[in-house]
Amino acid sequence: MAWGTRKLNDGRELPEIGFGTWTAGSGQTVVDQVEQAIETGFNHIDTAQYYNNEYETGKGIKESSEHPWITTKWSGKDNKGIRQSLQESLEYLGVKSVDLYLIHHPRLVNGDAPASWAEFEEIKKEGLVKSIGVSNFQIEDLESIRLAGESTPAVNQILLHPYVYSQTAPLLAYHATHNIVTEAYSSLYPITHEKGGPLDKPLSKIAEKHSASEAGVLFAWARSKGAVIVTTSRQKSRLEDYLHSGDLELSDKEIKQLDEAGGKFQAWKTKQKALKAVAWGLFAVEGLALVRWWISR
Ligand SMILES: NC(=O)c1ccc[n+]([C@@H]2O[C@H](COP(=O)([O-])OP(=O)(O)OC[C@H]3O[C@@H](n4cnc5c(N)ncnc54)[C@H](OP(=O)(O)O)[C@@H]3O)[C@@H](O)[C@H]2O)c1
Repeated sequence: MAWGTRKLNDGRELPEIGFGTWTAGSGQTVVDQVEQAIETGFNHIDTAQYYNNEYETGKGIKESSEHPWITTKWSGKDNKGIRQSLQESLEYLGVKSVDLYLIHHPRLVNGDAPASWAEFEEIKKEGLVKSIGVSNFQIEDLESIRLAGESTPAVNQILLHPYVYSQTAPLLAYHATHNIVTEAYSSLYPITHEKGGPLDKPLSKIAEKHSASEAGVLFAWARSKGAVIVTTSRQKSRLEDYLHSGDLELSDKEIKQLDEAGGKFQAWKTKQKALKAVAWGLFAVEGLALVRWWISR
């Protein structure tokens, strides 16, 4: 397993692959899934106030024999502010501090990112969180913090897969310039939500060549863009595969093939929509004819 750690701009080391609890549900299932992930070798757990399962996540962590890195997020649930949200998260998770605390979305800051960031810096000084970062921030959101003269977020957790790469590339370049670690979520989107898309062929060919899974190739692609991965699975075998994929290195040619196929997504999607509209049109015409025939009998 070649997943290591990534140095953050505050000097701390973030494990390069994390297990997320967004889709883990609620109740004992979450406890079991978190425990399973840790026992399989994940040393980084990613949760959020919004996921409504911090209590079960904390229980899963306590029931395992390890002490993983814990990330949680201020999601503004029930309009709760940063301090109250964090106090509740710490209580639910059963810890005195978390490793990383993120602003879940820029809309939470009501147009004043520096003010929320100043609060984040305060709770960090107080030792309630060890590192601070953001999620789903765009360049202008990050710039507003930087121009206010505040410290730079340690990470920005964002959607990253080949189908959104062309739009995301400037943000990745900004991260690299300002020493912000990219955390990629939903990297498997092309195989979980858009099967049949332009990535299918090169992805399966590259996976076959490396005797790897398509998920492993997508993670390797995201890593080639400088990202750390946040993923999930209910299945132990998939978790094992994710961890093994840390060894997979793609060639420049393979990365380019995936970039190019990813860039064809919008055109493919537009064509799909047009075909669907035509199919619905034909269906409607035929349906109308059938109704007319039925009435005229
Ligand atoms: N900050 C944010 O706004 C934000 C947004 C979204 C997500 N996240 C974080 O990122 C984590 C992961 O998000 P995600 O679930 O979207 O990540 P993902 O890594 O893209 O997808 C994980 C899912 O892929 C499925 N999968 C794996 N291999 C597959 C295959 N070969 N074919 C079909 N399905 C396959 C797994 O299903 P099985 O369970 O069946 O194996 C699992 O549910 C979340 O839990 C959360 O912590 C953060």
